[in-house]
Amino acid sequence: MPPSFFPLLFLLLRSLPASRAQLSAGSSRLTPYDSLYADGVRAYFARDWPRAAELLQRSLHSYSRLQDVRRGCQRSCRGEAGFAEVRPAASPPWEAGFFERVLQRAECLEECLGRRLGGQPTRHRVSRAVEQEFEEREPYNYLQVAFFKLKKLDEAVSSAHTFFVANPQHLQMREDIEKYQRMAGVKSESFRDLEAMPHWEAYEAGLRHYSVDDYQQALTKLEESLKEGLVALEDCRALCEGPQEAEDGEDNMQLGLYEAIAAYYIQVLKCRQQCIFDIATKPGRVSSTEDFIPSHFDLLQFAYDGIGDQAAAAECAATYLLFYPKDEAMQEKLKQYRAEIGEDIPVAPREIIHLYVQRSLMEKKLIYYAVEHLGETFHDPEPWTPEELIPESMKEKQKEDKEKQSLRISDLEQQGKSESLPFEGITITMDSQQLNGSQRVVLDRVLTESECKDILRLAKAAGGAGDGYRGRRSPHTPHERFEGLTVLKALQLAEEGVVNWKDAKLFLQASEKSREIVESYFTPGKSLNFSFTHLVCRTAAEGEQEGRMDLSHPVHADNCLLDPEGNTCWKEPPAYIYRDYSAILYLNDDFQGGNLFFTEKDAVTVTAQVRPKCGRLVAFSSGGENPHGVWAVTQGRRCAIALWYTLSPEHVEQEWAQAEELMRQAKEKEQSDPDGEENTGAGHGGRDSPEPPSLRGRARSTSRRAKSDSESGVRSMGQRARDEF
Ligand SMILES: *[C@@H]1O[C@H](CO)[C@@H](O)[C@H](O)[C@H]1NC(C)=O
Ligand SMILES: *[C@@H]1O[C@H](CO)[C@@H](O)[C@H](O)[C@H]1NC(C)=O
Repeated sequence: MPPSFFPLLFLLLRSLPASRAQLSAGSSRLTPYDSLYADGVRAYFARDWPRAAELLQRSLHSYSRLQDVRRGCQRSCRGEAGFAEVRPAASPPWEAGFFERVLQRAECLEECLGRRLGGQPTRHRVSRAVEQEFEEREPYNYLQVAFFKLKKLDEAVSSAHTFFVANPQHLQMREDIEKYQRMAGVKSESFRDLEAMPHWEAYEAGLRHYSVDDYQQALTKLEESLKEGLVALEDCRALCEGPQEAEDGEDNMQLGLYEAIAAYYIQVLKCRQQCIFDIATKPGRVSSTEDFIPSHFDLLQFAYDGIGDQAAAAECAATYLLFYPKDEAMQEKLKQYRAEIGEDIPVAPREIIHLYVQRSLMEKKLIYYAVEHLGETFHDPEPWTPEELIPESMKEKQKEDKEKQSLRISDLEQQGKSESLPFEGITITMDSQQLNGSQRVVLDRVLTESECKDILRLAKAAGGAGDGYRGRRSPHTPHERFEGLTVLKALQLAEEGVVNWKDAKLFLQASEKSREIVESYFTPGKSLNFSFTHLVCRTAAEGEQEGRMDLSHPVHADNCLLDPEGNTCWKEPPAYIYRDYSAILYLNDDFQGGNLFFTEKDAVTVTAQVRPKCGRLVAFSSGGENPHGVWAVTQGRRCAIALWYTLSPEHVEQEWAQAEELMRQAKEKEQSDPDGEENTGAGHGGRDSPEPPSLRGRARSTSRRAKSDSESGVRSMGQRARDEF
């Protein structure tokens, strides 16, 4: 060994980041040759020749070692003996046959597409973005304008309607539709869906007939929707084979033959499985009808029985049992039908559904194998998948998630109900159940009429102060003005004599009272702290209200980013992920519109509405279980205190401490100045010594700090405004 070797090695190890040095020295993990090479080249240009040489050599070594490993794996996966033994390798017996068919299929597709498209099929590949626009019917958005300009009203209206069906939240199109509806010369037949899916129309008609016990008609329509639905399903599945753009970040990934085939095949299988979700989702909706196909057979068996065709009813019951073989109610029905038609008459499920179930199970099995062994993920769109098929690891996780959720909710509900509220006179008007959701509550009489009036006066005076709080246009709609006031700003305005001290104090006290109520209802025993407090008024702009269908505040959840498409809510920034509970304390009801509403995660299906009124407190958990919005305020002015709470100490609202400090100072002044205004308090909620321990000992420095903080408070208003109630 040359004498210079050790110093060189030492230098090399020292020059590498610790973890990498350990890895390359200690374990057998191979440093990728490309990064060694890049570092080597960099060292070369830095004229660090020794390092360059060392790294370049190591890259070559790493490259050659990688080749060895790859060759070895190829052999051992073919079931051959050790690395050393080299002889011609036999292909697996299935390989030639399999790939021959793959090649033939590819040739056939190529030939067919080329012939039918008249040339190179690759010319027809489009980007995913464009494809998506078509899926969302975006071209109709342009079309309607074009037709309108051409004065082709009928076409314009049907284009507009077709677009709107798939995009019911599109505010501009809502307005356009409204205008068309009022326009003379527009016929109601013009509102056609040019892309209507036959199975949806039939399905909805079928359900209508079914609900009025018109079984004959219901059967016709439901059989039709089933047939059309299966056609749509096959259409959708056929498109899964691509061409598909590689998913983000994967396009540069290099995969071997089998890994690439496996990854691509699983992607195709997942796409095919997803098709049931697509056809069971009405255009413009984001959540699908669960059990679309099985539920057809439940309805059908009932309807066939209703018209006295027990043989058909038995067939449908048997078909339903393909999905849910252990369903006792259906087993019972099948038994009953068989008794009625005679036990010796054979009953078989429908063949086409039998095939559907078998194929689906085969695909799921493969996908779950990939989930378990290849790190794939899968969200099964069908609820009937038998337990045995789902890998244990995945089942565990699902169960945990479910338990965590239900435990938490039922606990809270019970505690909420059994614990008495910390204030007398307040009533629980609606609980979660009455509000058709979870972790929601409406309480009344939190404020008296006169307290509401005082706080409204504060909002009005602050609004007139004109330093950033003058009504701006609402961030959500051009038809409303929007004013907001924080607790700190309220007290500063009081100090400046712009608003009444008593009213500003009442604002703080009402907020604190609400906090105590929400804490005792939802999180007894834990401290729930303010995260942000805002007195907000929205005023309908005059003369712009006709035909308004926009929302005063679009549907959103408070601590996560609602993803109606995925039917989930992403708890990640820029959402305020640390907000745990939300509440709104209403101050008035002399306005039109402006109801609060909750929706499903699809952001479209309204599940409950709450009419604001003085002293009413609505509180709910801030997560994806409570998407909500506010209907347009079409006349008058709607004021409320919006409150967000957090359980995490590091996100406690800093302004509160400052506001309380200002109030404490004012109180001191008041005591030395007997003419100062009296503190009347906000009923039982009034806090007489609102000094948090953290403030002791640094009282006097606040005024300067408060000033600069208030400026930043003004700046951040714009950002915050987007999630006001
Ligand atoms: C949070 O709220 C609790 C209960 O009101 C209070 O004791 C605690 O001081 C608050 N924490 C902070 C950081 O303000
Ligand atoms: C809850 O749902 C029922 C049935 O759809 C509805 O009548 C009721 O108004 C809803 N509750 C609220 C508070 O909106």
